[in-house]
Amino acid sequence: MGRQMRVGRLRPRWILALAGLAAATMTVAACGGSAVRGGGGGGGDQETVKLGVLLPLSGVYAPLGEDMQQGLRLYIDEHGGKLGGRRVELVTADEGEGPQTAVPAAKKLIQQDRVVAVTGVVSSAVALGVRDLFTESKIPLVISNAGADEITGEASSDYLWRTSFANTEPNAAFGPYVADQVKGGGVYVIAADYAAGKEAMGGFKETFEAAGGKVADERYTPFGETQDFQPYLNAIQRSGAEAVYCFYAGAEAVAFVKQYEEFGLADELPLYSAGFLTEGGALDAQGDAALGIRTSLNYAPDLDNPANERFRAAYQNRFEEEPTTYAVASYDAAAVLDQALTSIDGDVTGEQIAAALGEVGEVDSPRGTWRFSETHNPVQKYYLREVRKQGAGFTNATVRELEG
Ligand code: PHB
Repeated sequence: MGRQMRVGRLRPRWILALAGLAAATMTVAACGGSAVRGGGGGGGDQETVKLGVLLPLSGVYAPLGEDMQQGLRLYIDEHGGKLGGRRVELVTADEGEGPQTAVPAAKKLIQQDRVVAVTGVVSSAVALGVRDLFTESKIPLVISNAGADEITGEASSDYLWRTSFANTEPNAAFGPYVADQVKGGGVYVIAADYAAGKEAMGGFKETFEAAGGKVADERYTPFGETQDFQPYLNAIQRSGAEAVYCFYAGAEAVAFVKQYEEFGLADELPLYSAGFLTEGGALDAQGDAALGIRTSLNYAPDLDNPANERFRAAYQNRFEEEPTTYAVASYDAAAVLDQALTSIDGDVTGEQIAAALGEVGEVDSPRGTWRFSETHNPVQKYYLREVRKQGAGFTNATVRELEG
């Protein structure tokens, strides 16, 4: 089983995202029943904790949110519907495409639903928009995608945690490799114009230039609005660059990779990126256009470790597709919350969860073991991956670990 299972039947979430359609923006309770704030009681069976899930239910990144919901659901179901011995009630709210949607959604989770912690958040712009709200409300936010560097950098707080990555990391890990591949040729840098694109390119340029690489030119495309990349592809062709480095994810990644190939650039200029470019359903939609693209990421479905072997089989069995970095980070968010809640006796508060997260040790993750840094970001490895055919479909095959 693998990505080939989905070829020819793109999932509805991708059809919606690619059409740029807005799905319903409602807030949904992921599982029914009333709940008390906190719960606890020494992990007694009758106690319930309410966990907020903040994810995009529409727009460019909605399919990523779906993968994250799947990872979360899998972990909780594998643990009998409980975290730390308490029954979990998930309350899902829509982060939309930016803070204007996400801030009211986060406020509702905290103030109205009275959740004890929140996980999710795909977009860096959203993470930056909601971070103070969580710190001020003393409710932990366990980010399972958004890579905004500040969150686990200068803005780090007792209430901000991340199980995914910081934006500079996968790109900084890739710089020396790309410099070595282009051997002095210029690289054209292009990315979505918001925090994640800027930080991704910053991370890449730093190590790429330190390794002797030259940037031919640099462009940022309006986020969520660019459907036609033709003018940018023209500029790339005219630039004399010998390769391209980009940051796109979700529906934008599909449009960019397909148009890159249709324009004829795929045969001329190698395309490099952090692995979000070819991750999950994006790869299904890109198909042949993505073949051979090399990326850097903290996960690949073929990683050879016991936790991944078990996780990958369970995920494929349940969702009939290969797991993604989004699903893994969300699965791990549930795992660290599970560990934290297990260590709390009696009533559960946001303050107690935040303190307990600080005591979480090594996480036995499908990406390989990792632990939180002092500023609450995973200390982890990055891998060079290549898009290859797998059965009737495609996969991101691990080539080797990046020394970064
Ligand atoms: C981000 O906004 O931080 C972000 C979004 C999508 C990705 C990776 C990072 O795939």
